[in-house]
Amino acid sequence: MNKNLMRTEELRTPVYLVDEAILENNLKILAKVQEETGSRILLAQKAFSMYHVYPMIRHYLAGATASGLYEARLAAEEMGGENHVFSPAYTAKEMQELCGICDHISFNSIAQLERHRALWESNGVSAGLRINPEHSTQEGHPIYDPCAPGSRLGIRRELFPGKLPKGVEGLHIHTLCEQDAAPLVETFEAVEEKFGEYLHQLKWLNLGGGHHITRPGYDLDMLKDLLCRIRDTYQVQVYLEPGEAIALNAGYLITEVMDIVENERPVLILDASAACHMPDVLEMPYRPPLKDSGMPGEKPVTCTLACRTCLAGDVIGDYSFDMQPGIGERLVFEDMAIYTMVKNHTFNGMPLPDIALLRKDGRCEVVKQFGYKDFKERLS
Ligand SMILES: Cc1ncc(COP(=O)(O)O)c(C=O)c1O
Repeated sequence: MNKNLMRTEELRTPVYLVDEAILENNLKILAKVQEETGSRILLAQKAFSMYHVYPMIRHYLAGATASGLYEARLAAEEMGGENHVFSPAYTAKEMQELCGICDHISFNSIAQLERHRALWESNGVSAGLRINPEHSTQEGHPIYDPCAPGSRLGIRRELFPGKLPKGVEGLHIHTLCEQDAAPLVETFEAVEEKFGEYLHQLKWLNLGGGHHITRPGYDLDMLKDLLCRIRDTYQVQVYLEPGEAIALNAGYLITEVMDIVENERPVLILDASAACHMPDVLEMPYRPPLKDSGMPGEKPVTCTLACRTCLAGDVIGDYSFDMQPGIGERLVFEDMAIYTMVKNHTFNGMPLPDIALLRKDGRCEVVKQFGYKDFKERLS
């Protein structure tokens, strides 16, 4: 048997385990949206860049989008299909390379568009401008709201030129975060109101990410109606570039209890870290789901789940259990494929979790293991 194939219990911890069956199920939902609306869906690699599964993603989706040169290169090397990029600013050197590998490049200002014009024009790249419809639909996560006052993301109507700049073929909007279809409908109405005069002149319109399309209960019909309406009214190719929706609920972070500190309630010291391995838990912040656990007080024993870094606040949260987990027991955090591997780091010299794939045949394939070298090589 291949030495990289094993049962879940045999994986070393901490480990990110991506669930191939759930990932594929998400991709099938997205493929159906593409099929029924003519829209094209791209993987936003900022959320999930485990390129081991890019061939599967490419089987269902049109391609990928990048936040800069490195992600664009990754998509060119590992994904194929359409390659798009948006960044608030590009260097001349980056633009040179991007023009060789990208189909669409979106700019965040007229100054950036013009600074790089000679390159994108001569390479036949389709250029777009990111606009800011100044319509917030989010509550609770201001750091994820590109429409918040003072935002640098997207050109506001006030600064948008009276005439679409020569050669611009598309507009790009990204304003949502983990949202249903209704906020997108509202946002598009704001776009029509402020930028409607340009929409008939476009070849494409990119509606960004933040669409929680694969979440149970998401209003797929509302999304499809909107996408068809945009296509039919403006004769544009519509793009969506979700990150989360692609691998939503499709991964676990498996961790082991290393010690237990007694305090008001037992504090379990884990070999995974919120700060290093799931930073959104602290940044966003949010409470990651944990298999077989409840809210504090819901089950007989409530414990604090904490980490072994020096950061006092490296605490995942309070969870309740039927029985107190013991030292050596494994805990499984859920929804850990997205914004985890792409954001992790080695603060305190913490080891990076391995990366594994739970295959459809039930066996786990260890895709990548990290060690001391990965820590050291980034530091001098
Ligand atoms: C420009 C752009 N596109 C797509 C995405 C992906 O968003 P999500 O993972 O929430 O779907 C983001 C997220 O920040 C983004 O900034």
